Amino acid sequence: MKDKLKALEEKIDLAKQGGGEAKIKSQHKKGKLTARERIHFLLDEGSFEELGMFVTHRSNQFGLDKQKFLGDGVITGYGKVNGRLVYVFAQDFTVFGGSLAEAHAQKICRLMDLAMENGAPVIGLNDSGGARIQEGVVSLGGYADIFYRNTLASGVVPQISAIMGPCAGGAVYSPALTDFIIMEEKISYMFVTGPNVVKTVTHENVSSAELGGAQTHAVKSGVTHFVASNELACFDKIKTLLSYVPQNCEEEPPQVPYEKGNETREKLNDVIPANPNQPYDIRDVISEVADAESFFEVHKDYAENIVVGFARLGGKSIGIVANQPAYLAGVLDINASKKAGRFVRFCDSFNIPLLVFEDVPGFLPGTDQEWNGIISNGAKLLYAFCEATVPRITVITRKAYGGAYDVMNSKHIGADMNYAWPTAEIAVMGAKGAAEIIFKKEIKEAEDKEAKWKEKEQEYNDMFANPYRAAARGYVDEVIRPDQTREKLIAAFEMLKNKARKLPRKKHGNIPL
Ligand code: HXC
Repeated sequence: MKDKLKALEEKIDLAKQGGGEAKIKSQHKKGKLTARERIHFLLDEGSFEELGMFVTHRSNQFGLDKQKFLGDGVITGYGKVNGRLVYVFAQDFTVFGGSLAEAHAQKICRLMDLAMENGAPVIGLNDSGGARIQEGVVSLGGYADIFYRNTLASGVVPQISAIMGPCAGGAVYSPALTDFIIMEEKISYMFVTGPNVVKTVTHENVSSAELGGAQTHAVKSGVTHFVASNELACFDKIKTLLSYVPQNCEEEPPQVPYEKGNETREKLNDVIPANPNQPYDIRDVISEVADAESFFEVHKDYAENIVVGFARLGGKSIGIVANQPAYLAGVLDINASKKAGRFVRFCDSFNIPLLVFEDVPGFLPGTDQEWNGIISNGAKLLYAFCEATVPRITVITRKAYGGAYDVMNSKHIGADMNYAWPTAEIAVMGAKGAAEIIFKKEIKEAEDKEAKWKEKEQEYNDMFANPYRAAARGYVDEVIRPDQTREKLIAAFEMLKNKARKLPRKKHGNIPL
């Protein structure tokens, strides 16, 4: 028995060495942790249980028969984050650059099957050169098996991808199918094909960072939802994110203890500037209304004209979608619609109630937006709100103009409650443009055209630049003092907590993708 135990220990030691000492040194030299170190820092101390440690590949081509590594370049297993079960895989760059082949893929697939059957999140720590080139179609098949499971698991369990190295090909498409991507700032890249291929095909000279670095994906493409300044910060973000979401679609999100106190927030009475065209930061509203320090912003640097993120209200998780008047006046455009639409769908999938702050002058006009499809892209956000069955509340802080009034969680599209501050303006368009269209003739015939235009603008403003017409129709449930907002929302979400709304029976809808 002793011999057998010794042999087992030796095998375990060998597996823990991954691609060997030299490769581990090289990984550290690049400023990267190894896959095992990553799992150690992510999970609760001593909670990791590994699966498939001795799995190896079965290929012979290109000398692979002489290069077998226990585990085949990916560490898989389960453990706990803050006491809650998670499934985790970490690709080991020291073994064939973390590239994915048949056995490697099978390990990830088994993990995802377990996650779906047992209802717990999957966290992927990606550090991979994509499909293992030596294995050919078998590795492509392996990726496809994972893509299939990513899709089946979507909306069943939360899926989070951390990018912790240069990821190419399939190593970026699988994360793209998951709910959230977090990129480490200095060591991670994501591209379908790297700079060399780009140069050959399009003759563009571009660095890895420009093509697919964390900033590129945070600001330009919106592929990543978060950027972390180092690997430990990346794990902190994953832990924070998990604290807002349930384990699976059948559960409610976790709650933190909360004792009711004085919920009046006087500062809110001073947020809206006297001049309705002056910007203000909607985060000043969010931070006052949500529980202290609880706002966790998602997609912070992308489409900044809309702000989305998780927060807690009275200790309970909510998802916030808010127009941002401090950026492009909070206008809705293609990127903002896509960003917010996807966030709404995540919250709805996982029973997280939605709170909307609305201050929007409308959709962004112009050829750029029209030619790139603001019609079908704007419809994504509209569709996402219409379909969401979680409790949904809107607070109109200032402008609610045009189609954007409908889109931003109006009661007409299924919101449960709409509140308005006394500063709300709800109309088809701004008074200046409206006066020009409907009083065209009077203005044209007036001696002092400018004065007439001003007079008619004022007339329209007096009629619509307030919340009372909408309140008279019941489109707005209540016009509230800003300082009462938090109290009203806690009460309303409490009232809505057992909401049961069903969509018509169907296979699935056809969101305008
Ligand atoms: C096999 C690979 C590999 C791969 C890297 N390696 N990628 N082995 N298959 N796909 C190996 C290297 O040969 C090297 O082995 C080790 O990993 C480290 O790689 P380096 O190039 O030295 O590291 P680095 O300079 O950091 O560059 C990393 C990289 C680069 C950017 C990922 O290796 C690269 O461009 N790899 C190829 C990317 C790619 O085109 N993959 C196929 C994608 S197709 P040694 O023994 O020398 O240490 C795909 C299809 C899926 O994924 C379907 C999508 C829909």
